Amino acid sequence: MTLSQSLVTASVVGIATAQNQTTIKISVPSDLNTRPLIPDVYGYSIEPVWLDSYTNTSLANTLLSSIANVTGKAPPIRIGGNTADQTYLYPSSPLPLTGNDSVAIPDPLTAKAFNITPHWFDTWATYLPTGTDLIYTLNLADNSSGWANAVAEAEAAHAALGDSLVAFELGNEIDHYINKGWRDASWGVKAYIEQFRNLTGQITGSGWYQALTQAKSKAPTFQAGVFADPPLVPDQQDEIDDFSITNLTAAGIASQPEEKNIISSYATHLYPQSTCDTARWYRLSLDLLSNHNVLWQNVSQYIPQVAAADAAGAPLVMGETNSASCSGRSGISDSFGAALWAVDYVLTAASLGIRKVYFHLGARSEYSAFTPLAYELKNETLASGIRAGWYAHYFVARVVSDTSFDCSGRQNQTQFRIAALPGANSSSLSGFAVYGGGGGGGDEDTKGALRKLVFLDMGVWNGTEGLSNPSTLSATDGTVFSEGIRPVSTFEVATPWSTGAEIKVVRLTAPGTNAKSNVSVAGTLFDDRTGEPAVGGEGERLGDEYSEIVRVGAEGIVKFDVRRAEAVLLEIGRDGMNMDCGENGQSGGNNGSIPATSGVSRPGAHWRGVVVAFFVVLVL
Ligand SMILES: *[C@@H]1O[C@H](CO)[C@@H](O)[C@H](O)[C@H]1NC(C)=O
Ligand SMILES: *[C@@H]1O[C@H](CO)[C@@H](O)[C@H](O)[C@H]1NC(C)=O
Ligand SMILES: *[C@@H]1O[C@H](CO)[C@@H](O)[C@H](O)[C@H]1NC(C)=O
Ligand SMILES: *[C@@H]1O[C@H](CO)[C@@H](O)[C@H](O)[C@H]1NC(C)=O
Ligand SMILES: *[C@@H]1O[C@H](CO)[C@@H](O)[C@H](O)[C@H]1NC(C)=O
Ligand SMILES: *[C@@H]1O[C@H](CO)[C@@H](O)[C@H](O)[C@H]1NC(C)=O
Ligand SMILES: *[C@@H]1O[C@H](CO)[C@@H](O)[C@H](O)[C@H]1NC(C)=O
Ligand SMILES: *[C@@H]1O[C@H](CO)[C@@H](O)[C@H](O)[C@H]1NC(C)=O
Ligand SMILES: *[C@@H]1O[C@H](CO)[C@@H](O)[C@H](O)[C@H]1NC(C)=O
Ligand SMILES: *[C@@H]1O[C@H](CO)[C@@H](O)[C@H](O)[C@H]1NC(C)=O
Ligand SMILES: *[C@@H]1O[C@H](CO)[C@@H](O)[C@H](O)[C@H]1NC(C)=O
Ligand SMILES: *[C@@H]1O[C@H](CO)[C@@H](O)[C@H](O)[C@H]1NC(C)=O
Repeated sequence: MTLSQSLVTASVVGIATAQNQTTIKISVPSDLNTRPLIPDVYGYSIEPVWLDSYTNTSLANTLLSSIANVTGKAPPIRIGGNTADQTYLYPSSPLPLTGNDSVAIPDPLTAKAFNITPHWFDTWATYLPTGTDLIYTLNLADNSSGWANAVAEAEAAHAALGDSLVAFELGNEIDHYINKGWRDASWGVKAYIEQFRNLTGQITGSGWYQALTQAKSKAPTFQAGVFADPPLVPDQQDEIDDFSITNLTAAGIASQPEEKNIISSYATHLYPQSTCDTARWYRLSLDLLSNHNVLWQNVSQYIPQVAAADAAGAPLVMGETNSASCSGRSGISDSFGAALWAVDYVLTAASLGIRKVYFHLGARSEYSAFTPLAYELKNETLASGIRAGWYAHYFVARVVSDTSFDCSGRQNQTQFRIAALPGANSSSLSGFAVYGGGGGGGDEDTKGALRKLVFLDMGVWNGTEGLSNPSTLSATDGTVFSEGIRPVSTFEVATPWSTGAEIKVVRLTAPGTNAKSNVSVAGTLFDDRTGEPAVGGEGERLGDEYSEIVRVGAEGIVKFDVRRAEAVLLEIGRDGMNMDCGENGQSGGNNGSIPATSGVSRPGAHWRGVVVAFFVVLVL
């Protein structure tokens, strides 16, 4: 099935070439500044009141496990959001009158309070894949009794979650506290630092934390900041305050070694569009989302914040984000355009030094990449399922996954680094180079050899297929269609790769920007109901699927096609990596042979690739 999907794509490309094709020439400069690209760059933030829904079915576990299987590291999860500052811990289980360990009052959609017991943490402690790094947001808003509630939450969370609880946040979007009536007008960086010190001091001074420190065990750290307002967009500042990472670090947070040691990251939030108010509601647009220039404007405003965090000794993360705030907008947030945006976003952010990006999830939110349970919304009944955005995550998993093997056949865990390509930087085009291993040491100073390239055609193509998805509103299915034949660009990329080397291609594709279904990554689809991946060939493992294989031409030029509204990942096979495996080495200049990269322990994959490659040659 995977194979035929790839063949369909290849033949469409072939037919279109005659009439609607342009050539794009790009080179990969040798002097790009790179930043770390970590295996768990792509994570989720789950609204506390919706966590029970996500852990109610196997869907989230299956999807997150798929990613872990491909990247070697489970996606990081932050349990936080508005309702974190409305969470109250009650000491004994179950909660009085309810018989449950959690209850949203009056209900999850309009919660004013979220009451939990210590046992609530146990109910989901083992749900997520092994190795998941969890961040839990404590209620900073309720400052009564010296934050006794938050101090108790911290202890209960650690008791149940153990080592997987890597960090706490103190409050969510604290730069909205004045408007919410949770702090007075004196609230700002100075007051925050005092309260941060008081609460972190109480937590790190408590018996359970001291016991961990004394036993030299891993103790949870703190993700500081957690600001919502975009630094350079004045009309989206919620209230007058001085919160920013630059102001926070300038005011002396982390100036003492003890404090620096417990801060593992700084967090900001970003929602480029919004449904929260009428003015921004009217500006909502799919075309604006699928636009690399706009994305650059939105993400590059954090460059000074990254620098401030780095200088204070911890990376900046985008701790909660999605396409449009206040739950998103069906027709935009659940479209393939949002998937291309998410890929471009995570890779642009990484190339600027934003270490991780956490996409927000609510069980009834229009922007959620997947929803666990059926529900009613705007007079429609939506099925549980997977939206287009999920495929962005799987595609990025393929980008960060190390498919190289050492000489004994073990999968490498190279530290990759990433840079954005200056030659692929317009509203409709974005590109990235990924480096690591073989050649360089892979440490901070040497970026290593070029391993992968990513190109996104961010131009809008509104197709006529895959318009609906039973987990999204049918009222927002596409009705505006692009005319003519979907354009195709032929890329000619000048690389340092050796002539003849094998390049494997992974395509993220769909019938159009407006598609809500029929999205795939190298032909792989995920079952909307169970989340199980449908991998093609016999004995094939997830992460081994390729759309086609090309070879590096004269002078390192790699040629391939990309349709409008499509993304490709190119990765060099082991035969191009100058590895020296001694006398029995199967690589290093052995360019004519079928490699290597997947052949050691992943049978099946390259055969399918070769068949597709021949097919592409014939069609083109
Ligand atoms: C799972 O969802 C079903 C249906 O909504 C509900 O009846 C059940 O109580 C939920 N179980 C848990 C553990 O949340
Ligand atoms: C992940 O890998 C394990 C071990 O190979 C396998 O049992 C499991 O089915 C895989 N899960 C998914 C969702 O691919
Ligand atoms: C307990 O939670 C379940 C699932 O969320 C819900 O169906 C049930 O009504 C709750 N019980 C009470 C007494 O609120
Ligand atoms: C809690 O916050 C309120 C509102 O800003 C403030 O008036 C009060 O002094 C604070 N209490 C403590 C203990 O910080
Ligand atoms: C927190 O503030 C309270 C009230 O000002 C004070 O009594 C307590 O000692 C402080 N605790 C820490 C750890 O700073
Ligand atoms: C940083 O602090 C300065 C001085 O208080 C203030 O003018 C500025 O608005 C603050 N920056 C942000 C993004 O709040
Ligand atoms: C993102 O960029 C667009 C286009 O410039 C702008 O309208 C929007 O306000 C930006 N959003 C944020 C949160 O920066
Ligand atoms: C849902 O149906 C009601 C009754 O027919 C109608 O008044 C309302 O406008 C509808 N809501 C939406 C979002 O379509
Ligand atoms: C992309 O273009 C923007 C201006 O639109 C520029 O500021 C940025 O540095 C460019 N990025 C690269 C990688 O060249
Ligand atoms: C894989 O790891 C081995 C051993 O660390 C190293 O020699 C080799 O260069 C790596 N291969 C690649 C392709 O990075
Ligand atoms: C594509 O379709 C969306 C609605 O699905 C519409 O908002 C957008 O303007 C269309 N864009 C183009 C270029 O046709
Ligand atoms: C497109 O998606 C729909 C709904 O998921 C499915 O029924 C249909 O078979 C898909 N078509 C193709 C060509 O994959």
